[in-house]
Amino acid sequence: MPDQKSARSLPLSEAITISAQAIGEVMAGRSLTEVLGQLDVHERPIVQSLTFDALRKWIRSHELIVQFIPKPPPAPVDYLLSVAIALFLQGNQDGKGYATHTIVDQAVKACSEYEPTMYAKGLVNAVLRKVSVLVQPPEGEKRYPPDPITMFVPPWWRANLKKNYSKVWAALLIQQAQRAPLILRVNAKQYDRSQYQELLTQAGIYSKPIEELFGVKLNSALLLSEPVPVSDLPGFYGGAVSVQDAGAQLAAILLDPKSGELILDACAAPGGKTAHLLELADCEVVALELDGERLGKIGGNLDRLRLPSDRVRITRGDASKAAWWDGRLFDKILLDAPCSASGIVSRHPDIPFLRREADVNSLQQRQRSILAQAWKMLRQDGLLLYVTCSVFPEEGESQAAWFAAEHSNALRLSAPGQILPSGTNDGFFYALFKKNGP
Ligand SMILES: C[S@@+](CC[C@H](N)C(=O)[O-])C[C@H]1O[C@@H](n2cnc3c(N)ncnc32)[C@H](O)[C@@H]1O
Repeated sequence: MPDQKSARSLPLSEAITISAQAIGEVMAGRSLTEVLGQLDVHERPIVQSLTFDALRKWIRSHELIVQFIPKPPPAPVDYLLSVAIALFLQGNQDGKGYATHTIVDQAVKACSEYEPTMYAKGLVNAVLRKVSVLVQPPEGEKRYPPDPITMFVPPWWRANLKKNYSKVWAALLIQQAQRAPLILRVNAKQYDRSQYQELLTQAGIYSKPIEELFGVKLNSALLLSEPVPVSDLPGFYGGAVSVQDAGAQLAAILLDPKSGELILDACAAPGGKTAHLLELADCEVVALELDGERLGKIGGNLDRLRLPSDRVRITRGDASKAAWWDGRLFDKILLDAPCSASGIVSRHPDIPFLRREADVNSLQQRQRSILAQAWKMLRQDGLLLYVTCSVFPEEGESQAAWFAAEHSNALRLSAPGQILPSGTNDGFFYALFKKNGP
């Protein structure tokens, strides 16, 4: 549920209206990050929470909607119902939901206060009352059976998972339909993990260390038992800590930066992994990024973390070309490639609604051209870490195999390969190569 502070700051009915409109924007092809970014600060937490839940529970809410309205309702009514039904479903799942009458009253209020849905007030009221009985039955009556997969992914996406993960594809989607936990990376330049954990405890925030993931030791990861706004985290604005999934924390650790090394972070924005590299060693980093707007975020993140700006060159450029390069060979390269993001949908549940099947192939081509160009900029005996936040093998293992076959001087070293989403990490792919010859 949205935290109480933000819930108080915006009436639920208004949050439902804005959330239903945000879903409309996603369906029109806009990214939710962009849509949420335009909201006022006080609106954002509750609207994000409602919208994420609505998208994660899309399949189940639509099974319920067709049960009571066989002819699909107009889109604005459908989106409003999806938001309200997800509130029931989430409450049913974690027992922390709003009371039934609150959800119905507030959804009907939302309906009557927004012109495109005003006429459907009676319908929304009737449908939600029936749904509430099904999903939150009176004490002692049979509960509606939990749906194994509530989250929508398009048919081609589901087929890809079924083909590549015949035993675990359903579990994978069920995992991705869960709310993602809040995981922190303690800034090693400021605190060690146990010191910071103590600060959290003093602030009444409970956490536990994630010691290891897929055989890799993590020194800075803390899993919070309940998400909190970053403003409540001790020292956040002084750079004590960053929010970063544990799977993403593997990147800098696997590349193992050393003081004095020249490292290329080839696809750097918003700079989460650049910062982690600088927290681990006094290395020199070229943070390259194609997208000007995203590039602008890197400096702000590094400043907040109080990392030395003289060791980072933030550069706008295309990693698949050499135009931006001064010719100095890199000791190490982190290539966190643009990808489908199919591994991080629990944090971005709009992604399955936005991706098209053809995207996977075009992303694969972009990844290959960046890989091929980056390799030319790496010194002999240097290391390149290829990363994607995808679970599609076309962007992971197939790319690593293609790269090794194309480059006889590429020695593949040990790295986790494909990691699937779990309670502590999103889905990522990691392959590490050493340049074994000229
Ligand atoms: C997965 S994100 C990187 C996340 C980042 N490493 C972090 O940890 O914060 C991939 C980034 O690559 C950028 N990108 C896409 N194509 C690129 C290219 N040809 N050259 C450089 N950057 C590119 C995208 O704009 C995006 O910001």
